[in-house]
Amino acid sequence: MKDLDQALASAIARYRANNPKSEGQMLAACDVLPAGNTRSVLFHGPFPLYMARGEGCRLWDADGHAYIDALGEFTAGIYGHSEPRIQAAIVGALQGGLNLSSHTEREAKLAREIQRRFPSLELLRFTNSGTEANLMALAAATAHTGRRKVLVFDGAYHGGVLAFGGGGSPVNVPHDWVVARYNDLQDVKARVAQHGSELAAILVEPMLGAGGCIPAEPAFLQRLRALADECGALLVLDEVMTSRLSFGGRQGQLGIRPDLTTLGKYFGGGLSFGCFGGREDVMERFDPRRPGALGHAGTFNNNVLTMAAGLAGLTEVLSAEALEALNTRGQRLRTSLNAVFAAHRVGLQFTGLGSVMQLQPLAGPLRSADDLKAADDRIKALLFFELVERGIFLARRGLVALSLPFGDAEAAAFVSALDGAVAKCRDLLPS
Ligand SMILES: Cc1ncc(COP(=O)(O)O)c(C=O)c1O
Repeated sequence: MKDLDQALASAIARYRANNPKSEGQMLAACDVLPAGNTRSVLFHGPFPLYMARGEGCRLWDADGHAYIDALGEFTAGIYGHSEPRIQAAIVGALQGGLNLSSHTEREAKLAREIQRRFPSLELLRFTNSGTEANLMALAAATAHTGRRKVLVFDGAYHGGVLAFGGGGSPVNVPHDWVVARYNDLQDVKARVAQHGSELAAILVEPMLGAGGCIPAEPAFLQRLRALADECGALLVLDEVMTSRLSFGGRQGQLGIRPDLTTLGKYFGGGLSFGCFGGREDVMERFDPRRPGALGHAGTFNNNVLTMAAGLAGLTEVLSAEALEALNTRGQRLRTSLNAVFAAHRVGLQFTGLGSVMQLQPLAGPLRSADDLKAADDRIKALLFFELVERGIFLARRGLVALSLPFGDAEAAAFVSALDGAVAKCRDLLPS
């Protein structure tokens, strides 16, 4: 274990020596931003890389190193950095003028395109982020049911103020949370038996995303649907990350119809976006023509750039075939990466679904946040720095999300880099 500490210290020393400009930019930013940071997920020691530019699925950092971008903006960057049809749509929207203080035709077109993919969204509304989408979905659920409690899952992430890693966060919004174990039906049943009559919503990710790319078992999600019906709570499916797994998202793959769904990330074509929607009888409460309508303002909810980029992405680029091919590539890559671990006989794995996956520093089945408690973060750190040194950019926490331009050549380069890193560190990794 001392060897592991030494190997990590040496990898960090090389990283520091290789990236003086990133370190300098971070130190300068500390004057105005805490730890130079305005987006917690990006921070890691000793300092994160500062990127100067991106193109396709390539990135160049402040010190001039080139990377294959295997992170894809934490799943939001599905189109890569320079998709020409999206660029053209943004330029077109710019030429028509920003900030029109009005509705434009594009927002209904984008809504219709989303509904075509997700028919459970009988009515929907836009927000500026996935966080806001979940906040609004929960507001709708509490207003609709007249109840206060919300059942969520340990390890889940629904936004900056809706984070349940380690059970919760001091900055979470003060809903009356009931926290259950993911993929543990007995635990959920016990909590529903106790709180069911007060539950406004069951909020669930079809795969714990930030919580480690741990998929929900299909039967578990099906039972949540039934349990929500039995106790009169709304089932809110957070598909901010999983919507990209198929044309109709994870709900389409599993044939589950939630009461409300939340979306975000790539639906804005790479710009800020969020969306919540679902059952007409819930969503029509936001109809301003109704007496006592629920309010939902937001200066940038329908901003012309996001509407234009989102619409171009969905209608011109992200066809059902393109999505299927991307997720097949992701599945193949995960199989190849796991074959590297098997060939070197190390007890590591990539978990996930389709084009979204996560490096785990331990082997065996992973079903809930509890199963990750034995994970040694130093192993993830070591492989992260080794991969970055070999030109593969992924999240420090181990997240990988492919973009459309990430093809077979990039996958082969990633597999080869992992093979080199594992071969070098083999004796330090669990068997
Ligand atoms: C499942 C899930 N829900 C919600 C969010 C929050 O979205 P945003 O970062 O746009 O606020 C995220 C972001 O990573 C997410 O993965």
